[in-house]
Amino acid sequence: MTAFTIHPIANADRPATLAFISEHWGLPVVSRGIAHPAHEYPGFIAWKSGRIAGLITYHIAGDQCEITTLDSIMEGLGIGTALIHQVSEVARAAGSRRLWLITTNDNVNALRFYQKRHFELVAVHRRAIEQSRQIKPSIPLLGFDDIPIRDEIELEIRL
Ligand SMILES: CC(C)(COP(=O)(O)OP(=O)(O)OC[C@H]1O[C@@H](n2cnc3c(N)ncnc32)[C@H](O)[C@@H]1OP(=O)(O)O)[C@@H](O)C(=O)NCCC(=O)NCCS
Repeated sequence: MTAFTIHPIANADRPATLAFISEHWGLPVVSRGIAHPAHEYPGFIAWKSGRIAGLITYHIAGDQCEITTLDSIMEGLGIGTALIHQVSEVARAAGSRRLWLITTNDNVNALRFYQKRHFELVAVHRRAIEQSRQIKPSIPLLGFDDIPIRDEIELEIRL
């Protein structure tokens, strides 16, 4: 089995990054009422056999680093964990004091995944997705396991 390699998103990767994020999330990516052009953000790509196997983007503002997207399309190989590790190293080097992200209440797999990787729940922003839908009407009503997508759940690691 071929291993994966991880590289920062290069200029040449931008079209593929746009296509990948459009397919997985749609654009813009909305969190805390902010529309993020995540396809233009810095990040890392996990490559496997010449294809994108995972992608993470982040946004540093002040002393905080937000993970704006994370996807692995070859799950259970350590790709998601490795991508988070890369961003936490960058955030630390940039002097960020907090690595944080938003996931939605339906994404129980992500809540499990992040908590096993030292993220702590810091807030439930109840019904925040109503505001997100005003920016991005394409956010579906139902998410994983047909759970209504309603709340933003904020997780963080103190760096
Ligand atoms: C959440 C997500 C990013 C995890 O990515 P992933 O590549 O499967 O993550 P990993 O492989 O690092 O870890 C997943 C599991 O595989 C296991 N694993 C890691 N390396 C492994 C290996 N070499 N062999 C077998 N299993 C392995 C891990 O132990 C982990 O299990 P655990 O959570 O019980 O510890 C992925 O499921 C995903 O893209 N989900 C959809 C999008 C999403 O929800 N994104 C986050 C929204 S904010």
